[in-house]
Parts: sequence; C-alpha cells; structure tokens
Amino acid sequence: MTAPALLDIQQVSKRFVKPLNLGERISAWLGAQAAAQTVRAVTGVSLSVRKGEVVGLVGESGCGKSTLGRMASGIYTPSDGQVLFDGSPVARQQGRRTVKQTTRVQMVHQDPFSSLNPRMRVGDTVGEGPVTHGLVPAREADAYVARWLDRVGLDSGLRRRFPHQFSGGQRQRIAIARALAMQPDLLVLDEPVASLDVSIQAQVLNLFMDLRRDLNLTAIFISHDLGVVRHVSDRVVIMYLGRIVEVAPTPALYAAPKHPYTRALFDSVPRVGVGRQGFVPIAGEIPSPLAPPPGCHFHPRCAMAGPRCSREAPELLPVGAVGEGRLAACHLHTGGTD
Ligand SMILES: Nc1ncnc2c1ncn2[C@@H]1O[C@H](COP(=O)(O)OP(=O)(O)O)[C@@H](O)[C@H]1O
Ligand code: SF4
Ligand SMILES: [Mg+2]
Repeated sequence: MTAPALLDIQQVSKRFVKPLNLGERISAWLGAQAAAQTVRAVTGVSLSVRKGEVVGLVGESGCGKSTLGRMASGIYTPSDGQVLFDGSPVARQQGRRTVKQTTRVQMVHQDPFSSLNPRMRVGDTVGEGPVTHGLVPAREADAYVARWLDRVGLDSGLRRRFPHQFSGGQRQRIAIARALAMQPDLLVLDEPVASLDVSIQAQVLNLFMDLRRDLNLTAIFISHDLGVVRHVSDRVVIMYLGRIVEVAPTPALYAAPKHPYTRALFDSVPRVGVGRQGFVPIAGEIPSPLAPPPGCHFHPRCAMAGPRCSREAPELLPVGAVGEGRLAACHLHTGGTD
C-alpha cells in the first residue's frame, strides 16, 4: 500500500497584483487607461508528497516554482485552493499577514548570502529557532547546534563565527543545518545549489543524499536544472508558466518524457561528453504571466501545436501504463491537436 500524503496541495493558485508605479498613477490621474496588473504566478496546481519521498520541481525561471514552494512552506497563503500538511492547513491569513501554522515544514532558500543574518553568529542562527520553539532547552543549545553543524559536514568549532567568514557552499550547509535543527517532517529546498560552483554543487547534493538516507527526509527539491533533480528525486514535476505540465517517476521521465515542453527542456541541456553539440534552445521567449497565451500556455513555442492548442487548455491527466503514476497536460495524449 502507498503511504498517505504528508503534504497535500489542492488546486492552489497564487495571484500577485502589481501596483501602478508613480508614472502610471499620474497617467491614470490625468485620465489615461492604467489599471493594476495581475501576475498569475501559479494556477490550479495539485500535488501530494508522501512521507519519505523527494519530489523534484523543475521549470524555467519565472514559472512559479518559488511561489509554489512558499505556499507549501506556509510562507504564502494561496489565492485559491489550500495546502494541507498532515491534514491541516499549513498557513492561514490574518488580515494582510500570513500565519504559518507549523514548524514541521522548513524551507532552505536559494541564496545563503541573504538568508543568513549577517550580524548573527552562525551558532545562534542555527540554535535560535529550536530554543524559541522549545525543541531544546537553552542550556543545551550549544551542544545541539554543534551536533547539527557536524552533521552537515562543518567544523562545529566555527560556530561563533559570522556568515561572511564562510564560503558559499559552507553557508548553504549552515542554512540546511538551521532547517534540520527544527526537526521538520518536510523540507522545501528552493534551488539550494543554483548559486554555487559546479564542484561545490556536487558536494552539497551528496550531503543532501546522505541526510536523506540517514534521516528519512521528505522534501520538495526545486531546481531549474533537470540534471540536478535526476540524482536526488523519486518523482519529478515539470512546471510551465504557473501550471504543472508533467509528473513522472524519475527513471521514467528521463527514459521517455511525454510532454513536448519536457522534451524541449531535455534538448536544451548540453550533455556531458557531447559538449554543446545538439544543444537546441527552446524556441521563442517565455510569455509574460501578466498575459499568458490562451489554451495551452506552451503553444506559441511548441513544435507539435495544432489549432486545438490555442483554443483549449489541456488537463493534467494520467498517461502511460496504468499505475505507472505518470501525468501529462497535452492534447497529443487525448485525441490530438486538430
Ligand atoms: N511577491 C511577488 N510580487 C509580484 N510578483 C511576483 C512575486 N513573486 C513572484 N512573482 C512573479 O510570479 C512569477 C513566478 O515567480 P517565481 O515563483 O519566483 O518563479 P520561479 O521560482 O520559477 O523563478 C514571476 O512572473 C514573478 O515575477
Ligand atoms: S497541448 Fe498542444 S501546444 Fe500544448 S504541449 Fe501539447 S501539442 Fe504542444
Ligand atoms: Mg525561484
């Protein structure tokens, strides 16, 4: 039997209203047509994550990965839909404020330079949350922090230093230690290696794999890089312009992607040993989430598009063998594009 979902994301959308800038406000005051614009960052996304599972979330910059990750972590409340963690909403809205309801979901951000307080000693950064939330008594915090720094491969003797005294890779280890010290049941890692050199990326990915094995982590691992998630995820979710377009177990996705966008993503990755030969960037620009194309959002860039694609948005539906756990949102799998 499959384990029940720990995280259940149900039909969530997130819209941001882009306020008018000063020039636009003056134009509007003078009678010009100007209205606040709505960015559709995430639209109608459903996804569940089982205990012990690592889900990779992939897509080009601006497709809504961080916004979805922030809703999963309870940092944002959805505009529509809900995110349940262990059956309860992970966040609630209190006036204009989002109140995160649990510490059991922790997020690691892309940029360890801005996510660590530069004026706080790293030991205090790692120990603050666990003490505040009563996970460890204040008198034991120092030893607790030392254990976590050791666990992420850092010399615990350096815990009285400040973030600027560490390298980028070390800082990301500190950010991971800070998240894990909260003893979360789910981690959301938002492009945790994107800002690091390739050799350092491999070290941090190896650390994640070790931690995953030893602590039986459940995680959403966000990356714009298919090569990165391949090694760390059980399942991969591909997003395009705020929607999920494909979901598949990792080996199946890499063996045979089902959605034209996923195929285009693969074709645009320079392969090891092949250099940049066969490197085909995806045609056209990513459309603006202020005015997404009608029908299938991918149709202006899709080599397989037909008339139906600009008329009708494809639903995310099961594809492939029964029980394989694959989903795709493309008319090619439901009667064609005419
Ligand atoms: N706080 C915000 N206010 C307004 N627009 C936002 C905000 N956060 C994200 N967006 C917009 O939402 C879209 C999705 O952004 P994001 O989730 O950061 O994508 P990704 O992480 O995949 O690069 C982008 O167009 C981005 O500009
Ligand atoms: S629905 Fe049409 S445009 Fe969209 S991915 Fe499939 S073939 Fe391409
Ligand atoms: Mg992002």
